[in-house]
Amino acid sequence: MGPYQRGLVLAVALLLLPGAALIFPASAQEARSGYFYASPETQALQDDPFANPGSLWLEEGRARWQRIEGAAGKSCASCHGDNGTELIEASAAYPKFNKRLGRPITLSQQINQCRVRHMGAAALAPDSEALMSIELLLRQRAAGRPMQVSVDGPMRPFYERGKALYFQRRGQFNMACYQCHDQRPGEFVRGERLSQGQINNFPAYLIRWGTVGSAHRRFQLCDRQARAEPFQIGSPEYVALEVYVAHRARGLAVEAPAVRP
Ligand code: HEC
Ligand code: HEC
Repeated sequence: MGPYQRGLVLAVALLLLPGAALIFPASAQEARSGYFYASPETQALQDDPFANPGSLWLEEGRARWQRIEGAAGKSCASCHGDNGTELIEASAAYPKFNKRLGRPITLSQQINQCRVRHMGAAALAPDSEALMSIELLLRQRAAGRPMQVSVDGPMRPFYERGKALYFQRRGQFNMACYQCHDQRPGEFVRGERLSQGQINNFPAYLIRWGTVGSAHRRFQLCDRQARAEPFQIGSPEYVALEVYVAHRARGLAVEAPAVRP
């Protein structure tokens, strides 16, 4: 089955599910990582550091952390130390408001800010192996810490925008994120077990991708499966959506490297 058919079958199956499915508001549900809904095989792959494919990205991330690049002749380690210790808390707190830009930025975007502004190096392409490996390393150092994204002050309007997107029915099947991830977690739909759609685990290794990808790439996949036009990775829409979904995951432990089907 191609991705189109898969999405079609999934959406049609969901529309046909009995309307009697219990409807819990998101706030009434205990937040649970996608790990909880994953199969024992997928969980085992994540739990075994030797088998976990994300380990390869971590190794690459460690090498890149020390690599001198750009006109300033610096590496990440030159400014943030060999272990980046002072970035641990921050790595669980993105997206974060950037005063200079007047808007929230993702952890990927912050890494590129450092490359361009502090290293005199080129920005890395969205979701490139290079960018994902550095971001995964930062998240791995924060593993076990609670997600703690702030939505106060200047973050508020972006949170509201993201929340509106989360509840907005879009696309050919007229479906919204909450219909799958707040109303139906735990249900099997054509072999896929729906989770709460949490993002405590990104960037994550997806078996179907054979690589590590960002939360925005996962949003794109969900949009395509629901036959809605996806936004761009790093777009204002997905950054706002990430603000809402990251705040929704507050308190969940950061998981890295995570493995998902
Ligand atoms: C038609 C149902 C459907 C809709 C609508 C949908 N998703 Fe998903 N989503 C899935 C399926 C299936 C998966 C893979 C299994 C799982 O983790 O739920 C998934 C996975 C995810 C994950 C990964 C969870 C993890 O643990 O790795 C995130 C994050 C996510 N969705 C967010 C969203 C957001 C945000 C929206 C709205 C833009 C959305 N989804 C809309 C079906 C949907
Ligand atoms: C020349 C010094 C310098 C280098 C090299 C550098 N940074 Fe930074 N970094 C900073 C400064 C200064 C800040 C404070 C915010 C800003 O100016 O962007 C920062 C902020 C950060 C933050 C956010 C911290 C927070 O509290 O939110 C992260 C994450 C980060 N850097 C990662 C990296 C990574 C990864 C690299 C290598 C690709 C790197 N930095 C290279 C100077 C540097």
